[in-house]
Amino acid sequence: MKKGILILFISISYFASAQVKKEADGKAIYNQYCLACHQEDGTGVPNLNPPLRKSDWVGGEKTRLIRVILEGLNEEIEVNGESYNRVMASHDFLSDKQVADVLTYIRTNFGNSAEPVKEEEVKVLRKKKP
Ligand code: HEC
Repeated sequence: MKKGILILFISISYFASAQVKKEADGKAIYNQYCLACHQEDGTGVPNLNPPLRKSDWVGGEKTRLIRVILEGLNEEIEVNGESYNRVMASHDFLSDKQVADVLTYIRTNFGNSAEPVKEEEVKVLRKKKP
């Protein structure tokens, strides 16, 4: 009985620490590759770089969001009622895991609370690319 509780405890702390690590990885990638444009708190820069804070691009459909990172974005878009028509370059040099971690980070921060993005979901979309 005692042993069972111990194993349970070890596995809970293992999963908890894996989750904390993922969050830290995502934040580090964000700080290195995204912060300069989208800002530390995800508010972006008015008329220049759209906010990630409470953005339905971030909290919405995963496929569309993953594509922004893999392919970049160059069209007129609307975020939180403001329109933007600029260019974001592709970040396809990031690994599948890095893309998943950074997207999970922005989906669970900046006022967003959407389910995480998995490495596998990035891999599938990257393969589909022509
Ligand atoms: C050089 C500046 C720049 C960098 C670096 C950059 N972005 Fe962007 N991002 C933009 C711009 C500009 C747009 C809008 C493009 C358009 O108008 O079509 C955008 C759009 C987006 C969008 C969709 C709109 C929104 O606000 O929700 C997401 C999501 C996003 N970026 C996430 C990221 C992530 C994650 C990173 C880092 C891996 C990143 N960006 C790096 C400039 C940048």
